[in-house]
Amino acid sequence: MKDRLLEVLKNVENFTAQNAEQVEEFRIKILGSKGILKDLLVDFKNVPNEEKKEIGQLINQIKDKAQSKIDAFKNTQDSQSKESIDIDLTKTPYPIEIGSLHPITLVKNQIVEIFSRIGFTVSDGPEIEDDWHNFSALNFPPEHPARDMQDTFFVESNNGEIALRTHTSSVQVRVMESQKPPIRTLSPGRVYRNEAISARAHCFFHQIEGLYIAENVSFADLKQTLLYFAKEMFGENTEIRLRPSYFPFTEPSAEVDVSCSVCNSKGCNICKYSGYLEILGCGMVDPKVLENCGIDSKKYTGFAFGMGVERIAMLKYKINDLRLFSEGDIRFLKQFKGSL
Ligand code: PHE
Repeated sequence: MKDRLLEVLKNVENFTAQNAEQVEEFRIKILGSKGILKDLLVDFKNVPNEEKKEIGQLINQIKDKAQSKIDAFKNTQDSQSKESIDIDLTKTPYPIEIGSLHPITLVKNQIVEIFSRIGFTVSDGPEIEDDWHNFSALNFPPEHPARDMQDTFFVESNNGEIALRTHTSSVQVRVMESQKPPIRTLSPGRVYRNEAISARAHCFFHQIEGLYIAENVSFADLKQTLLYFAKEMFGENTEIRLRPSYFPFTEPSAEVDVSCSVCNSKGCNICKYSGYLEILGCGMVDPKVLENCGIDSKKYTGFAFGMGVERIAMLKYKINDLRLFSEGDIRFLKQFKGSL
């Protein structure tokens, strides 16, 4: 029996396992209820008394050794799984898609960049404005029908004194009040008008207005600046067309069309077969407005222009519904990934 025990002990000592199944197999074979150890204990009863001590010790050794082999394997498994906990569990298990700039931001950035090349800075102002900056300083007399041109959201508690700005010309007033000419600045921003929401109109949209005030600024400077912009924005062959118009704060005033780049002015449904697309309003700053803002109108003249960013974006990307810009539909927004 001693030889058999030594043989088993040797096997136990030499045991190595690759995986948990092998360890379990080993445990059942040695320590299990029908395992080798059980058999040995049965045989142990027949061992002569004088050998019992030695044989008993051998059996215990087999048992201890087998158990310690099993324990050792479990320990290495535990420490391995502890190591794997060192991975970053806060990481998402899937790659995150990188977002993209909103088309309005892309177009705004491009317009700002084009004008910055000819010395225009960027100015900012509040979206909630007082009557002075949105209307009165800009030569809209009280009760004047010109105020109806821009359906205004008034802030109720202030007797029509405070409103959501209807254009970013209000920022230009603030700039003229606080800076001395020469002034050459753009005011991009969100504006609000009380309009029914449709494919062509929204109750909020974005504008970029430009202002240039210095000595001897002429209408020719305005035309040339706008031609430069149109070519940079819509392509080298773009032409502009000015039509007389009216704004209370500019005199003379004009509306500006660009030749349709979709059909090369031949006529298409984008330009409604006119060959031209209206993109902005402009004019020479009315001397009264300069005086309202503390600028000497005998010494300085200036021009101003204003355009809707959505309108430019719609022309640039051939988008036919204004509402798409504010609905946040990922399928729409995704298409501008990598643009510009
Ligand atoms: N503020 C005008 C508008 O919102 C646009 C404009 C700006 C026209 C500057 C002329 C000069 O309609």
